[in-house]
Order: sequence, then structure tokens, then C-alpha cells
Amino acid sequence: MNTKFLTTSKQDIELAGEIIRRGGLVAFPTETVYGLGANALDENAVKSIFAAKGRPADNPLIVHIAEKEDIIPLVKEVTPKAKALIDAFFPAPLTVILEKAERIPYVTSGGLETVAVRMPENETARALIKASGCPIAAPSANTSGLPSPTKAQHVISDMTGKIDAIIDGGECKFGVESTVITLVGEKPVILRPGAVTKEMLEKVIGEVEVSPAVLSGMKENETAASPGMKYKHYSPKAEIVIVEGEKVRFEEFVNALPDCFALCFEGDRVNVPHITYGKENDDLSQARELFDALRRLDEMGAKKVYARAPHKNGVGMAVYNRIIRAAAFRTVDLKKPFLIGLTGRTGAGKGYVGELLTELGFKVIDSDKISRALTEKNSPVLKEIQKTFGEDTVKDGVLDRALLAKRAFKSREETDKLNKIMHPEIIKRSIAEATALSVIDAPQLFEAGLQNECFKVISVIAPQEICLKRIMERDGISRERALERINAQLSEEYYIKNSDFVIINDLKSDVKAQLLEILDEIM
Ligand code: TXA
Ligand code: MG
Repeated sequence: MNTKFLTTSKQDIELAGEIIRRGGLVAFPTETVYGLGANALDENAVKSIFAAKGRPADNPLIVHIAEKEDIIPLVKEVTPKAKALIDAFFPAPLTVILEKAERIPYVTSGGLETVAVRMPENETARALIKASGCPIAAPSANTSGLPSPTKAQHVISDMTGKIDAIIDGGECKFGVESTVITLVGEKPVILRPGAVTKEMLEKVIGEVEVSPAVLSGMKENETAASPGMKYKHYSPKAEIVIVEGEKVRFEEFVNALPDCFALCFEGDRVNVPHITYGKENDDLSQARELFDALRRLDEMGAKKVYARAPHKNGVGMAVYNRIIRAAAFRTVDLKKPFLIGLTGRTGAGKGYVGELLTELGFKVIDSDKISRALTEKNSPVLKEIQKTFGEDTVKDGVLDRALLAKRAFKSREETDKLNKIMHPEIIKRSIAEATALSVIDAPQLFEAGLQNECFKVISVIAPQEICLKRIMERDGISRERALERINAQLSEEYYIKNSDFVIINDLKSDVKAQLLEILDEIM
């Protein structure tokens, strides 16, 4: 198909209206994103929208109108709340869902008994609807699954050859799609946040709910209130990971990583290749630039991208809703220290994994070293030990390790007493030492409760025979003593069950490959 490139001139809009009237497809600017329009009442024309976008047939379209009263013939009833919203906002980046009139074909409503209606603020969009003489069904004019188009160039790259015409109306004012609110149920519910915020809506119609799917993923088997929410969305080719946390922590984090890209805010100090999307405290600027930024990252060939998380209030909710989908809900939370837990039974080869992580730029924190430091000469922990295990356990500020071991490892109960003194301190110091990229190497990770402080836990496991040999060689002890030590630990099943990832170190498996795969998945 030969796609015509049109301007916003009166003549071109007349021509575009004519194309739509005859059943054709025209991409046009709106204040949110570019739409791909067809006559909403013409089944065949609407079908061709789905074909051009590669859109699933059960995902309904929004019907666009030029005047407020044009909604009347499209719906069963304009409810009082709908009327209030229309009067207060239309024309606006706001879509209302009501029960549909019979004349709306099921192709347009995705098989539903409801219809979504919006009167765009953009003059060209309204002029086109008027020129066509019919309501225009229009989804965003992108290939299904890609970021929505906010510039004519985006539409040109997705739709050339597939549709009749593209009107170039410059950049879209808001850059994220309209707020979608359903007025069909008992309470109004926001199905998709946009530039008309919850607060703005509540001022007009009182309490408004936000669909849980807006800020989190849909669970499997859940039916979507808005069918569009269940599909993969806004996904660039690059893999995006949302990074929660302050500017400084973000900078520290990405600057420590090799070979990554960043999607950040203006003024962020990152040393890796990056694209910005707006300013930190300006959600409108973020909304305007996000989709273009996602497309530009693909043009740069980015494979892995760490993105700064927007604030979630106001228009930020819309920005967050889009970016979290672009990231397929993957997040790293730097509000907690970014600490990966590394554990395993003695002899399994944790140390080797620690070395690999050091090579990769991680700071490896050694919990054994921390616990030795805790009991150094005159350290405050010694007082506690003395109080619990006897005056004579400390002489001249120095711990009698052998005596303490004798008393503390006498019974489970006594060992617990020592752990209660040591573990909270170990946790405190581990966290204090954690930087943007750190790993805590802790054989007693679970016993100390350190897993709760870790972003993810990796356990290293190895067959018992191999562990035994390693311990005997490393510590120069007998097979029996080595076996005793192994048996005093948590079972291998326990490690497997309570870890996010397991690395098998059995002299056959490639440990580095396993580690890299895990890191790729968690960061
Ligand atoms: O800003 C916008 O709304 C843009 C411009 C072109 O107007 N259009 C747009 O359309 O974003 P689209 O098709 O990409 O997104 C429409 C969303 C989808 O998530 C769809 O599932 C939902 O609205 N939707 C449409 N009709 C619905 C209905 N009857 N019930 C529930 N959700 C509906
Ligand atoms: Mg869309």
C-alpha cells in the first residue's frame, strides 16, 4: 500500500476525512499519542486497524468524537457521573467507558457490551473527525507491543506501507495515552492512568478507585477489567530494569556496572551511555519524553537498560504505569542496600563464586571477617560475651576463644545465646559496608537472618564427597571431623528451598556461566 504523508492543512485534513469515510486508515496526531483511525461504525474498516497493528481482536478500541453531544448516540445512557466528567473535562486526554449503543459493532468494542469514548483536545484530531463525518475508532498508531508513537516519525517507522495516510502534527503535548475510567460498575475505576489524574477526577465525581493492575502486574488467570492491560506493552527490544531509590544511589549503581545503558533524568551524573526522559520533579516532562526515549534506546542498540523510577503520584502514576510495563515489572530496589547473599554448606565452593563476583566489580563482604572483628581486643561485644558466658572468657580485653567455644557450643541453647549477641551486630556491619554492588559471603546467612537484608540469595551446592575432600584439604582435618562439620550445618535441601538461586559446583558444571545467568536475571 502506498502511504500518503499529509500535513495539518485544511486541504489535507479534508482528504484524510474522505479516506476515513471510504473505509480507509489514517494516522493522526492527538494531544496524547498518535492514533490510527478508522470509521468506528464500519466493521471492515475497524478490522483493518487490528491487521495493521497486529493487535489481538479482543482488545477494544477507543471511539473519538468531535463534540460533547456526539457521545449520545454511541452509548445506552450518559450517566450523571459521565455527564459531570464530560462537562468538566472534554475535550481532554480522558476516555470514559459506558454501556454501548447497539450501533457500535462488536469488532470495535472487542466483543464487550461497553464502549470507550473520548473527545480529543488536539485541533487537528477534532477537525479530522468532523471532516470524516463519523466517530473515529483509534488505538495508538504503533505496532502492537511497541511504545506508543509521540512523533510522526514513530508512526512512519511502524506504519508506512500498511495504512492509507499519516498526518504529521508534530510532537504530542502529553506523550502518554489518555486516562481511561470506567463508569459501568458500582464505583468509577481508573483502568489506565493518564494526564487527567485521580485527584482531578475526584474533585468532580467523588471517590475514584484505581485498578490494582495499574501499578502491578496481572496475576495469571486474572481477567482484565481492561483487556489492553493483559498484553505486553511499550516493550522496546532492550531489556529494561526499573531502579527504585535516590538519584545518588542510582548514579553509584549504574556507574559501577559494565556494559549497561541508563534511562535517567536530566542532570543525573551517569558515566554509561544514556538517554534522559524529562526532569526528576516534573512528571509532565517525563510523560512527554518517555516513549521517544524508549525508541531511541533501541536505535542505540541498548541491550540492558537501568531506568530511574518516576514518582508515582499525579501524572507520575501514568509514567510509572507505562515504564513498569516496558520493564516487564522488573525492578531493583536501592532504597535497601543492594546486597546479594552468598551462602552454602562448608566446602561447597562459595569462596570461588565470591572471587568471580569480585572480578565482576562487586564488593564482597566477608561475614567471617566481620565476626572476627567483632571480638577483637576491647570490642564492645566482649562485654556481652563476658556477661553471658563468664568473667573468665575475657582477660585483659582479649577473648579466650577456646574457652568460649567450649561453653557456647556445649548445647544448642548456649549456641543460640552466642548467636543472639553476634548476629544482630553482623547484620548491622554488613549493611554498613554495603555499596551499590555488594555481596555478603556468609556461611551462616540463614542462621543469622541475613536473608531478610538481601536483595536475592544465591546458594552454592556441591555433592557431599566433593565438599568433604575440599574441607579435608583446606583445613587439614580428618574425614570424620570434616563429616562432623558438614552434619552440624543446615541441610542442602534447606539451602535450595530458601535461596532465590542455586549454583552447582560439582567440577563438571560451568560455575561462571551459571553465575552470569543469575546476574542477568536479577539485575
Ligand atoms: O490517548 C489515547 O487514548 C490514544 C489516542 C489515540 O486517543 N488511544 C489509545 O488507544 O491509547 P489504545 O487502543 O492503544 O488503548 C485503549 C485502551 C486499551 O487498554 C483498551 O483495552 C481499553 O482502552 N479499552 C477500550 N475500550 C474498553 C472497554 N470497553 N472496556 C475496558 N477497556 C477498554
Ligand atoms: Mg496502545
